[in-house]
Amino acid sequence: MEKTVTLNDRTFKVMIPAEKIDRAVAAVAQRINADYGDKERPLFVGVLNGAFMFMSDLIKKIDFNCEISFVKLASYAGTESTGNVECLVGLNNDIAGRHVIIVEDIVDTGRSIAHMYTDLQRRNPASIEVCTLFFKPDSYSERLPIRYRALEIGNEFIVGYGLDYDQLGRNLKDIYVVTE
Ligand code: IMP
Ligand code: MG
Repeated sequence: MEKTVTLNDRTFKVMIPAEKIDRAVAAVAQRINADYGDKERPLFVGVLNGAFMFMSDLIKKIDFNCEISFVKLASYAGTESTGNVECLVGLNNDIAGRHVIIVEDIVDTGRSIAHMYTDLQRRNPASIEVCTLFFKPDSYSERLPIRYRALEIGNEFIVGYGLDYDQLGRNLKDIYVVTE
């Protein structure tokens, strides 16, 4: 029987098993290792809450000296992006001259990431790239290039592995998709 979970009023079924996520994280980590191995103390900036699990697994596969930090943004209510991006906890690090890699759980319309990119760009880093676990190409409507995309999906709403539906489901180790 198909594995399902119920979160509030919606039922979700498994879409991507943990093993496949792990392989995708390893592949993206390998690319970052190749690109940043010769750079001075790159800084990974995770976007809370969703990216906590991805950040944790990704960083264990990074083989150069690096720093990590987190910021907290909010733009979603339920399964819809509200369009208003709010910064709840900012970045304290001085990023001038640093190589920054933003770590996101999912890039959907791209509004959150564009907002954050503009904000960080003002502080004169040496470079900024984005590493996202999931990318929704059909929904993305920004011009900013997203360099590292571990997995691409359609416009479906997913939960698990850090991603939530009304704050629930972050603890699930597989990725689940909402059923009709
Ligand atoms: P954007 O600003 O539209 O790109 O939305 C990005 C944020 O919305 C992500 O960081 C997630 O927190 C949330 N989000 C977008 N799509 C999903 C989804 O399918 N499941 C859970 N959260 C999502
Ligand atoms: Mg997020």
